Amino acid sequence: MLNRIMEELCWINGSVCPLSQARISVEDRGFVFADGVYEVIRVYQGRGFAVKPHLQRLVRSCEGVEISCPYSNQFIEKVIGDLVMQSRLQEGIVYVQVTRGVAPRGHAFPKDVTPTVMVYTRSMLFTRLASQRVISVTDDRWDRCWIKSIALLPNVLAKQKAVRAGVDEAVFVDGDHVQEGATSNVAIVRGQTLITPPVGEKVLPGVTRQILLELAEEQGMDVLEQTFTVQEAYAADEAFLASTTREVAWISEWDGHQIGSGRCGKWTQRLSQAFEHYRDQSVSDFNDSSSSSRSA
Ligand code: PDD
Repeated sequence: MLNRIMEELCWINGSVCPLSQARISVEDRGFVFADGVYEVIRVYQGRGFAVKPHLQRLVRSCEGVEISCPYSNQFIEKVIGDLVMQSRLQEGIVYVQVTRGVAPRGHAFPKDVTPTVMVYTRSMLFTRLASQRVISVTDDRWDRCWIKSIALLPNVLAKQKAVRAGVDEAVFVDGDHVQEGATSNVAIVRGQTLITPPVGEKVLPGVTRQILLELAEEQGMDVLEQTFTVQEAYAADEAFLASTTREVAWISEWDGHQIGSGRCGKWTQRLSQAFEHYRDQSVSDFNDSSSSSRSA
């Protein structure tokens, strides 16, 4: 009955508005990288339930991802209490989310960013002691790196480690096996063989990677899509990263080990040239076809 006259409200960094009108920037890192943490708190008879332990866990989650929430738990508790009251919410939930904030896209932590703190109320009715039917699924959280998902928090944290170490990229290693970079695919060259981990559970099918594999074959390289160990990477003649933003970037040092001669190797140079050629060709093909379709 009371729920009927309630109004779901949203509090974002100090401003309150109806939930349906609440807006967050599209550059919020929660939206772009899933770079945030959250809590769901039950509301019974107009009161938040177990608010303190929820907020304590929120603090631990924030610490875990190094977001420094600008508000104390005492303050957020007051915000929750006020919002539930103003909403006239009787039965439902309070949702609390803290993201790293709004910044131009880049995996590493942005400087001078204010976290986005959001609290909203939702009216919901739950059945007590409900019956549930279940199925079993393989626990593959998150073994689907082939999906270019925005759930990039592990990549964000890895990239930040690289920044802290004063290097350019972090490469994920599973057991002893190299998978991919936080924001790139990785390959090594041994003799005239290019070796790169196969795409799948732990490796995104990079567009740049695929183009480079085709160009490598054209250049007369042998291409092996198989995993290699970090030790094999240290001992490689050449190693490089591939991504849309980098194209081909040669690796000079890996965990402090110099790779090859410490200069850009000949195969990486050839691949980079071949990539440039391929890229320029496809840009000019596109320009030609769009100018001919304009004049048609
Ligand atoms: N990242 N692997 C990961 C985890 C990536 O994030 C990327 C690209 C790649 C390379 O994919 P492609 O060649 O299709 O760009 C591999 C982009 C550049 C980014 O998130 O900024």
